[in-house]
Amino acid sequence: MKKQVNYGIVGTGYFGAGLGRLLDELEGAKVTAVYDPEHAEPVAKELNCEVEPSIEALCKRADVDAIIVASPNGYHKHPVICAAANGKHVFCEKPIALSYEDCNEMIAKTKDKGLIFMAGHVMNFMHGVRTAKRLINEGKIGELLFCHAERNGWEEPQEEVSWKKKREISGGHLYHHIHELDFIQFLMGPAERVSMIGGNVAHQGERFGDEDDMLLISLEFAGNRYATLQYGSAFRWSDHYVKIQGTKGAILIDLQDVKVVLKTPQGEERFLLHESQEVDDDRTRIYKGLEMDGAIMYGKPDRTPPLWLQGIMKEEMIYFHNIMQGHEIEDEFKPLLDGTAARASIATADALTLSKEEDRKVSVSEITNKEAVAK
Ligand SMILES: NC(=O)c1ccc[n+]([C@@H]2O[C@H](COP(=O)([O-])OP(=O)(O)OC[C@H]3O[C@@H](n4cnc5c(N)ncnc54)[C@H](O)[C@@H]3O)[C@@H](O)[C@H]2O)c1
Repeated sequence: MKKQVNYGIVGTGYFGAGLGRLLDELEGAKVTAVYDPEHAEPVAKELNCEVEPSIEALCKRADVDAIIVASPNGYHKHPVICAAANGKHVFCEKPIALSYEDCNEMIAKTKDKGLIFMAGHVMNFMHGVRTAKRLINEGKIGELLFCHAERNGWEEPQEEVSWKKKREISGGHLYHHIHELDFIQFLMGPAERVSMIGGNVAHQGERFGDEDDMLLISLEFAGNRYATLQYGSAFRWSDHYVKIQGTKGAILIDLQDVKVVLKTPQGEERFLLHESQEVDDDRTRIYKGLEMDGAIMYGKPDRTPPLWLQGIMKEEMIYFHNIMQGHEIEDEFKPLLDGTAARASIATADALTLSKEEDRKVSVSEITNKEAVAK
């Protein structure tokens, strides 16, 4: 019989509630208590668990083995550190923090106690992403030369401005949508020198947040390799894809036109983005049916994630739960399970932020060395 693992959730909004529902379906998993300043009661009722009045009280419970952190981005650090202080393993939603310094502190506290600190970089669990990694490992596209990602759409005036649109809490598009940057660094290694231009070009006023709505990024990697990325809500022609260019071929992971394509001189081969055609079709319907503003969809606490997202969230929770039950961690996922992959993404995001602020190209080592000097 496998070990029983009990979970506590900090933040039971759109994602925290979704992760809780999926965890409760797994064998040997139970959400025993939750904390949320606003939305705890209905979710606790649904999950048949208790409500705690504070993060401290939740982390102290003897019947909680691991904490799922799904509060707004700027409020991840306190629960992670509190969980570590109480010897609880952590699954923390992306972005794990909004600065390299905070990532370091969170990693140090969990590492000191020998705890798992898994980042919610859910793209790792997408079927099409795994297919792309497999094709690359098989040498199908040769050596990687260049990656390009776009995650763009158009935002209309909002009835209520969510925390997701406020830079101080969300970090803005780059931090909030760290997935593409993280995936590109997974493929290419850490970026060395970076630059970013952009600004808030079309979304000023009280019915919008204060984030930049157009970010244009370039990354330089060791070995004469490059990447460019675009993020934002000022793009009337929306796009959401990652294109990977190699010496022998290229791969397109299209998250809007929902397909994965391998292109070589021999021709094109298509693969599914998700686990089945039904799920790919559901995602297509959502994008084509204009149920979202291009590639910049934001869930709300009273919504349930769409089928495709639930599929990868489930894979992610199965993976975390298996680790909690004692499964070995594969080499590929070690940096995902100790916070270091997530920290590498934030280091690059911080370097990009500095580049834009100071209007110059920045070495990522300026961010990572600054911390080493400060310590
Ligand atoms: N991996 C993904 O694809 C994905 C998708 C959506 C959200 N997320 C992440 O999940 C997290 C939550 O996002 P969401 O969409 O559920 O947002 P949400 O607004 O629906 O839920 C956030 C919840 O946190 C609660 N909260 C507010 N302040 C808090 C605090 N100080 N401590 C604890 N809880 C607090 C709110 O009451 C709310 O219920 C974010 O970090 C977000 O980036 C990840």
